[in-house]
Amino acid sequence: MSGTTARTIDGGRDTADPLVSGILAPVRCYEVQLRLAELGITHLVEVGPAGHLAGLARRTVPDLEARTVAQPDDPPAWSRSTARSGHDLGPPPVTVVRRETDGRTLAPPTGDGSDPPPPAWCRVMTLPVAIAGLGAHLPARVVTNGDLAEVLDTSDEWIRSRTGIRERHYVAADEATSDLAAHAGKAALADAGLGVEDISAIIVATTTPDHTVPGTAPLVAARLGTEVAAFDLNAACSGFLYGLRVGSAMVATGEGPVLVIGAETLSRIVDHNDRSVAVLFGDGAGAAVLVPDAGASMGPFELGADGVEPSMLWTCAGGSRTPVDDAVLEAGTHFLTMRGGDVYRNAVSRMTQAARGVLERAQLGVDDIDLFVGHQANVRILDAVVARLGLDPARSHVTVDRHGNTSAASIPMALTDARDAGRLSPGDTVLLAAFGAGLTWAACVLTWNPTAAAGEGG
Ligand code: UT7
Repeated sequence: MSGTTARTIDGGRDTADPLVSGILAPVRCYEVQLRLAELGITHLVEVGPAGHLAGLARRTVPDLEARTVAQPDDPPAWSRSTARSGHDLGPPPVTVVRRETDGRTLAPPTGDGSDPPPPAWCRVMTLPVAIAGLGAHLPARVVTNGDLAEVLDTSDEWIRSRTGIRERHYVAADEATSDLAAHAGKAALADAGLGVEDISAIIVATTTPDHTVPGTAPLVAARLGTEVAAFDLNAACSGFLYGLRVGSAMVATGEGPVLVIGAETLSRIVDHNDRSVAVLFGDGAGAAVLVPDAGASMGPFELGADGVEPSMLWTCAGGSRTPVDDAVLEAGTHFLTMRGGDVYRNAVSRMTQAARGVLERAQLGVDDIDLFVGHQANVRILDAVVARLGLDPARSHVTVDRHGNTSAASIPMALTDARDAGRLSPGDTVLLAAFGAGLTWAACVLTWNPTAAAGEGG
């Protein structure tokens, strides 16, 4: 590629391939932009019709003339640069960048229904983002199966054998989700060695916000003493992984460190007289600080949702469709209800499917996974997912016995628990998978603390 002579480079793969592969991985656009700027290109012709590289180059290099042509032999119509720059640039230097690499094209979707399914590489994306700190907070009150058996027609034996749960924690009367979230967030920041002034955003994944309005995240931000961007994310039990996806994208595109918190007070929305749900859920919060780290790898992610049958797991009333009134209070439809068997089957199949999806895209086998942290709803669900994946059960971390199902808080609390138990070593490959109301599901892989691993090695 030359900025001084006008010529077509037919065999320019050495130049074209790094640029095109950079375009293929969106997060590397930044590197491609740097490369374009470094090369000092003044004119560029991309063999279209997509024109991704031409468009990126046009946005990157001041006074660059970029054109897209249908065929390599089509003459590009130059017009602007001479007029704009005031210099006679002579014949334009021409760089032909092929728009196909390994048979994969860059054409954008037309949206008219004729588009082929997106190629897998669209979602083969790992971000240079690491978890720099973890924190968790459980409210003080422990509720054992025996405690529940005293007030409900249930037994420790039934709860343990059907769910693996031994105990869960409940908030006190004066505690709310933001209180737990703030504690977990502070702990994660301290663990990362960062102050609140170092973060650029707070995401709180929750289905049990303090209020319908405002969101819980601004309350947490105020508790932490910051005015950075703060917003809630509701993807039920998959919320923390959705939060990781959003937060890591923010970090990778230059926002700076992001605090992602999963926090829940499910004891507030279950009917404590309904044994079919009351024994399952608990309260708690977990948090992770995401930071840019060139050596790190977060992703790929798989996120999905199917809202066709929300009543499988929901609080029917209390939202805009059915506001709370006397009839609601009488019927108790503002409490959480669940068709346990249906949710169970979906949880196993969706978590397995999502986990397989990310492993395939990451080109990893199950034996490459050092630790699996799944959503902690039921130990039988975790065991079934592990069995279907063919994963060594010893690599699955379980906290549901002590925490119950804490929805969006379960994965960050379990990750923190695993780290505290010495189950995470620098460089480990971690698989996360979640499933929840919506229905929603999510999975991702990440490398645990890669910078420390590099430091140890060198
Ligand atoms: O976090 C979001 C995702 N949530 C989940 O993934 C939860 C998914 N579902 C489950 O984990 C399981 O379906 C449950 C733990 C909720 C239920 O286990 P199950 O093996 O599917 O039991 P079941 O619903 O088939 O109920 C079996 C029996 C029923 O009695 P009958 O009809 O057979 O006489 C229930 O009434 O167990 C009864 N039962 C209980 N008995 C004692 C239900 N809850 C209780 C209880 N104690 N707490």
